[in-house]
Amino acid sequence: MIELKNITYSVKGTSQEEREILKDLSAIFEEGKTYVITGPNGSGKSTLARLIMGINPLQHGEIFFDGQNIGNLSITQRAKAGICYAFQKPVTFKGVKIKSLLNIASGKENNVGGLCEYLSAVGLCAKDYIHRPFDDKLSGGEQKRIELALTLARNAKVNIFDEPEAGIDIWSFEKLTSIFKKLKKATNIIISHQSRIFEIADEIILLENGQIAKRGSYKQMKKHLQNARCGKLGGEA
Ligand SMILES: Nc1ncnc2c1ncn2[C@@H]1O[C@H](COP(=O)(O)OP(=O)(O)OP(=O)(O)O)[C@@H](O)[C@H]1O
Ligand SMILES: [Mg+2]
Repeated sequence: MIELKNITYSVKGTSQEEREILKDLSAIFEEGKTYVITGPNGSGKSTLARLIMGINPLQHGEIFFDGQNIGNLSITQRAKAGICYAFQKPVTFKGVKIKSLLNIASGKENNVGGLCEYLSAVGLCAKDYIHRPFDDKLSGGEQKRIELALTLARNAKVNIFDEPEAGIDIWSFEKLTSIFKKLKKATNIIISHQSRIFEIADEIILLENGQIAKRGSYKQMKKHLQNARCGKLGGEA
């Protein structure tokens, strides 16, 4: 379980003025539940995810993971504790083969069958990819899929996905949603603008101007999301 208490996060604006991106935000993400965070561009979704992972330093407020205050832990310590983050724009590793990354992520030496299981779950054929490096020569969509396969291999207690649908336009959404179903014992926090991802959420959190504007089940939120300001909300791929 992840608990956020009174998180405020500011950046310096163009004329060096303080700009609050997140404003006294508190939320609980329970174990075994899937949450979708949505909201207009620039509302603070990625900033929130980066704070949980420790990529952005905590300024004000507290973050607890299964009761432990993790606010001062490094990214590596949080990853070791069981938090996994799939970036909006994946970070590639020049020269490191996808096979090695999947073995590191899963913490074991996988045979081809095992590697195939992770890659086929994201619609990729193992024999075409395991010997390739995870670098910029892969297309944006391939990078996103491989990052998802790595998340699957990690099998962490908390998974944060930042717009997992981005760049995977023609990919069947069933495949994407089946990944979240495979990870359903974990706490899944998915940042998304996609109605088909909203449907699999236990709870949807609408972020506006760095605050939770509304939260509830898809049924409760559906109408509100359709009327929300962001054109992407409730939209199709
Ligand atoms: N280091 C920074 N310096 C200045 N502004 C920043 C910084 N980090 C984030 N911001 C600003 O904070 C706001 C929130 O950014 P964030 O990336 O969290 O938005 P988002 O909700 O994820 O948007 P999107 O849907 O476009 O991905 C944006 O206006 C962004 O420009
Ligand atoms: Mg973002």
